[in-house]
Amino acid sequence: MKTLIKNIKELVQVERTPRRMVKGAEMSKIESVKDAYLVVENGRFVAFGPMSELPEGTFDSEIDAAGRMVFPAFCDSHTHLVYAGSREIEYCDKIRGLSYEEIAKRGGGILNSAKRVQEATEDELYTDAMQRLDEMAAYGTGAVEIKSGYGMTTEAELKMLRVIRRLKETSPLTIKATLLGAHGIPMEYRGRQDKFVDLVVSEMIPQAAAEGLADFVDVFCDQGFFTVEDTDRMLEAGAKYGLRAKIHANELAYSGGIQCAVRHNALSCDHLEYTGDAEIESLKGSETMPTVLPGAAFFLNMVHAPVRKMMDAGLPVAMASDCNPGSSPSGNMQLILSMACVNYRMLPEEAINATTINSAYAMDVVDQLGSIAVGKKANFFITKPIPTCEFMPYSYGSNKVEKMFLNGKLLS
Ligand code: NIG
Ligand code: FE
Repeated sequence: MKTLIKNIKELVQVERTPRRMVKGAEMSKIESVKDAYLVVENGRFVAFGPMSELPEGTFDSEIDAAGRMVFPAFCDSHTHLVYAGSREIEYCDKIRGLSYEEIAKRGGGILNSAKRVQEATEDELYTDAMQRLDEMAAYGTGAVEIKSGYGMTTEAELKMLRVIRRLKETSPLTIKATLLGAHGIPMEYRGRQDKFVDLVVSEMIPQAAAEGLADFVDVFCDQGFFTVEDTDRMLEAGAKYGLRAKIHANELAYSGGIQCAVRHNALSCDHLEYTGDAEIESLKGSETMPTVLPGAAFFLNMVHAPVRKMMDAGLPVAMASDCNPGSSPSGNMQLILSMACVNYRMLPEEAINATTINSAYAMDVVDQLGSIAVGKKANFFITKPIPTCEFMPYSYGSNKVEKMFLNGKLLS
């Protein structure tokens, strides 16, 4: 099945020589082709270029984009989208002045979601998560990393990971699974947190690995949650089972989490509100993608990660939705683009690189996704009629996706 998309006003984020990530000053550049065509065959991009160079030949189907733009699908490299219920009451508590840590201390927050996940069936979790995935795809997302982390027991963590496996098998989106055994400290382990770390190391990681349920391992390494020493133990255990780290770091304090991520050659370290010179220095020359989560900073009304400083230091930056019921109940990556520009003063091109190629790296799918390049998976969208590329972040809140394609197939 060979499909031609013709008369594309602008084909955005094309690559002739695919890269692994985009860093520093390079982030402000996007290659695109004006008045373009794109050919998709067997779920992959096979050719693109200007209309003036459209090769002769026949196609099984043709789509006239009629002046609309084409973008590669967003890659959302950090979500918690398997969960049960919502947490709008805590949202109101936060408006009244309680902090994220105060809510967590009294058994709310992550533990509140954990209770509901423990009570939910796999079918319920699967149905809810699938609905969220469908909505995210409708807004242009083509790949999603999903974490466990609302289990708190081995049984419930494995249940969450099995739900993610089922989503992988049945959803047209590309999905990666992360074991986040150490997301919160259950009440019964308060004051003896090391015993909970023992459980993660001796049960959760080996059992998840034995069933092949996880691609990565994650830890919430921050003030009031897990220490650097705890994190070292869990990441070492993960590495023994071939699970690369992706960690939550420096959201609440200068916790040492970023340096810890780099020491363990983590694929990414995420949140990063508390990033200073020492943290930036440690990230330089590393293989760890600094990943910022604008939705969580917006929703929790937090300080913003120093994204400009990071890019000025030559670092790459990725951005993801962090979709979860507590700190970011939205998986809308178009909104993330707008937040990147407004709250972090990123240029639209920088924001697009952060949500496509760099976030693809941060979930280890950059060889397949994150740009329009020959041989990559045909996950892309045709926009509604929009005047410019910059209109994407500018026109915040409305859906600019008209037709979404996953594996070359139009989503209905
Ligand atoms: O990434 N920071 C830690 N974990 C999640 C929040 C999860 C929750 O509050 O349920 C996050 O923001
Ligand atoms: Fe998170």
